[in-house]
Amino acid sequence: MSETIVVIGSANVDFVMQVEHLPRRGESVPSSRFTQLFGGKGANQAVAAARAGGDVTFVGCVGDDVFGGMMKDNLLAAGVNVDHVAAEQGAESGAALIMVDHVGGNILSVASGANRRVTPDMIRPMSSVIANASLVMLQNEIPIVSAYAAVDISSEFGTPVMLNLAPAGPFEPKHLPKLAYLVVNETEAESLCGFAVDGDAKVAGAAEWMRARGVGTAIITLGAQGAYIDGPEFCGVIPAFPVSPVDTTAAGDTFCGALAAALVEGMPLERAARFASAAAALCVTRLGAQASIPQRAEIEALLAGRRVPGV
Ligand code: ATP
Ligand code: RIB
Repeated sequence: MSETIVVIGSANVDFVMQVEHLPRRGESVPSSRFTQLFGGKGANQAVAAARAGGDVTFVGCVGDDVFGGMMKDNLLAAGVNVDHVAAEQGAESGAALIMVDHVGGNILSVASGANRRVTPDMIRPMSSVIANASLVMLQNEIPIVSAYAAVDISSEFGTPVMLNLAPAGPFEPKHLPKLAYLVVNETEAESLCGFAVDGDAKVAGAAEWMRARGVGTAIITLGAQGAYIDGPEFCGVIPAFPVSPVDTTAAGDTFCGALAAALVEGMPLERAARFASAAAALCVTRLGAQASIPQRAEIEALLAGRRVPGV
């Protein structure tokens, strides 16, 4: 088995507007700045894992428009293997419209575009890539049936899977026991478990619900409150690092990617989660998704209490 992390997921081009406050329905708000950046939960997690030190292969689809080539080049520049990224004829690249307010909060809308073409038929020929990987990472921005196909192949070959069920959406319970790691935020946990996940007891209850259904390690991210982890090795809260947020976009993606890299290199779960928490904290101090994802040296500096520019 290689040390490779295989990320199967979405790649988007993000159109980002910085605004003083997020608009109400019907309201037009002026923007101080427009920026076009690279995003998509799958691609973000691939970049986060690579910058954190992982050997990463990304499997996905981009459009045959101008953005498709740019997204591939950007992944390559981050050190991600793009041999299994298809440029789909006649498809537009995935795109997200994002508004970010002055305290780092956001609203966003995603048009899947070429990400819809990541079908089970595209995943099945990836069997040997999956079989040779140390970890497969999935999110919920490709058709869920494709995620199920990847989960089944991984399970057949004994490759652990980390699923970030984001954005929230239905997930067949029969696949839960095939997940080594399930990462969700509170909203996603509510949607999966079917009960309100507010307050410490409910968060712990939701993680217990996931583990009772076969998930190896359940992780519920809590924004500035950190992340609750329930696994065989560790159970408790990993606090967030105190920072002044500029843009929280991709905090969850950075957490997942850095966590994956740390686990694959053999860090125990609690230490790996602290590493992920440091990476995610750095991400929220900067604008954009992939543009904000830190390099390993910055993560280590923050963990060691050294000064990191911008924090
Ligand atoms: P997103 O959808 O924006 O990527 P998310 O909702 O999936 O994020 P969050 O729970 O908001 O995920 O954040 C993931 C992790 O990022 C948290 O567990 C925490 O470690 C870190 N984080 C998020 N917000 C902050 C913050 N304001 N300050 C420090 N760390 C943060
Ligand atoms: O998690 C952040 C990402 O969600 C953005 O980069 C955007 O593209 C959407 O996929």
